[in-house]
Amino acid sequence: MSRTVLILSSSPRIGGNSDLLCDSLASGVEAAGNKTIKLHVAHMNIAPCKACEYCHEKSKGVCVIQDDMDQVWAALEQSDSIVFASPIYFFGCSAQLKLVIDRLYARYEKMNLQTGALLLTCAADEDVAESAKIMYRKIAECCGFQDKGIICATDVWAAGEISEKSVLREAYNLGKTL
Ligand SMILES: Cc1cc2nc3c(=O)[nH]c(=O)nc-3n(C[C@H](O)[C@H](O)[C@H](O)COP(=O)(O)O)c2cc1C
Repeated sequence: MSRTVLILSSSPRIGGNSDLLCDSLASGVEAAGNKTIKLHVAHMNIAPCKACEYCHEKSKGVCVIQDDMDQVWAALEQSDSIVFASPIYFFGCSAQLKLVIDRLYARYEKMNLQTGALLLTCAADEDVAESAKIMYRKIAECCGFQDKGIICATDVWAAGEISEKSVLREAYNLGKTL
């Protein structure tokens, strides 16, 4: 049966390095006969978690905030796999991705994801990506999905600079495994 992979592309630069990694991964997913849903979360209206506990104490998983996170939940309901994609911003993931991750708090125990992956881009060496990798692995553990791989493209600064790099092929191959 065909599987669906949700890709959360979180750079504000559509067509930038992490977004191009997403597209290569998506080609791999589709080559394997599966489907993708891609959301540009940096261009969605997603507010930060208020820590009000409404989702846990009153509503059984529905967040009190009504915004574009509803589109993420709708996509998650159809998805078997999740891909987080982010540029490294000051040794972590983008704030735009972190907003979505924190909002998963409402229903993280009820997600039916089986697999996941992480795509990162940075201007420097891979050691700047340590905290983003740790966060992702802990999320996988906490949400109960199997990590299928982490790709970190290094030495890419300007938007699109990644396009000549072999890491795009790695993302394509990773997409085939999801
Ligand atoms: C606010 C900001 C912070 C950044 N911090 C880092 C950093 O800590 N380490 C690094 O190697 N690159 C850093 N970068 C560079 C980006 O990670 C790099 O340009 C990346 O390829 C951007 O991906 P994108 O094209 O998908 O937006 C930063 C860029 C911005 C705009």
